[in-house]
Amino acid sequence: MMQHKKVRAGITALGAYAPKTVLTNADLEKIMDTTDEWIRTRTGIRRRHVAGDDEFTSDLAIRSVEDLLARHGDETLAGVDMVIVATNTPDALFPATAALVQDHFKLRAGAFDLLAACPGWLYALSVAQAYVEAGVCKRVLAVGAEVLTKLIDWQDRSTAVLFGDGAGATIIEAVPEPFGLKSMILGADGSGGHHLHMGCVGKCLPNSTPLSKYVYMNGREVFKFAVRVMNTATIDAVAEAGLESADISLFVPHQANLRIIDAARERLGLAREQVVITVDEYGNNSTASIPLALKHALDKGQIEVGDNLLLVTFGAGLTWGASVLTWGGGA
Ligand SMILES: CC(C)(COP(=O)(O)OP(=O)(O)OC[C@H]1O[C@@H](n2cnc3c(N)ncnc32)[C@H](O)[C@@H]1OP(=O)(O)O)[C@@H](O)C(=O)NCCC(=O)NCCS
Repeated sequence: MMQHKKVRAGITALGAYAPKTVLTNADLEKIMDTTDEWIRTRTGIRRRHVAGDDEFTSDLAIRSVEDLLARHGDETLAGVDMVIVATNTPDALFPATAALVQDHFKLRAGAFDLLAACPGWLYALSVAQAYVEAGVCKRVLAVGAEVLTKLIDWQDRSTAVLFGDGAGATIIEAVPEPFGLKSMILGADGSGGHHLHMGCVGKCLPNSTPLSKYVYMNGREVFKFAVRVMNTATIDAVAEAGLESADISLFVPHQANLRIIDAARERLGLAREQVVITVDEYGNNSTASIPLALKHALDKGQIEVGDNLLLVTFGAGLTWGASVLTWGGGA
């Protein structure tokens, strides 16, 4: 009997966008009781990019796709048959922001939004991978786009200093050996939902925690959770890929806090040059964080074809995810 070769999905094109308006730590010192020193030493953040009053998630998502087209050519969207926008800040509950992106580029594609907090783009990547490898879709446009600064209480210094806005767009399709996604680890622990939340139509979480009108975060608890899952998820992702830490060329973590990233890097035994850092420039822009970091690394020449990249993310839910990807395989 003829053996069918397994189709493997990979990322073949990428673009990203960050709004032009920048808020520095010095700007924040003027509007709240904080200091540049506190923010830098506790988080590593120096600046964050903030969407304008008339700029929303769909606008950022479209800009990131335009950047992808500028890098890879106008043909890059040909044959895209699904659009997924991972976001916590959709323009509307419905229609899906993904449908706005589909319409803007006049794609003959399905479209839906995906909500899994900051790991949303990695979850979208996993859905795209499954669609491609199962033959459901040929080419998926998976975008992470976020305007979290619109949902921040600017009086709450414990959250206001941490977040920024941005978007990253990726094309996922079949790639030849030895490229593509080698492992995908996804996890959730809803019992920790009360540590990081924002309300919508509900009133309370199951443990009677009233839902917050703005982003609420218990920073210390999220910090402990993040360090724990960054360790376990990365170890699992490397093992599932049949690799060891020494085989990883570049570590691309969710950009929330430099101390969390450093702890994970040290546990993996990786050198500083093997880690992509953008949290200093963008803060935490949630679902946009990893694709924006990938673009930054590509622009700096940190990624070569054939490199094994280790991606890891965490966020509200609580949710997390990690993946090993061998870069390359696009046309
Ligand atoms: C938020 C975070 C930076 C706070 O750092 P921390 O070292 O845990 O600081 P604490 O929360 O213990 O606060 C220490 C003190 O700084 C104060 N503080 C908090 N925010 C401050 C700010 N922006 N400026 C100055 N002081 C601040 C606190 O009020 C507290 O003061 P107190 O000791 O008088 O009560 C850190 O907990 C963190 O990064 N957590 C993870 C967040 C994360 O990754 N979220 C993203 C999820 S996707």
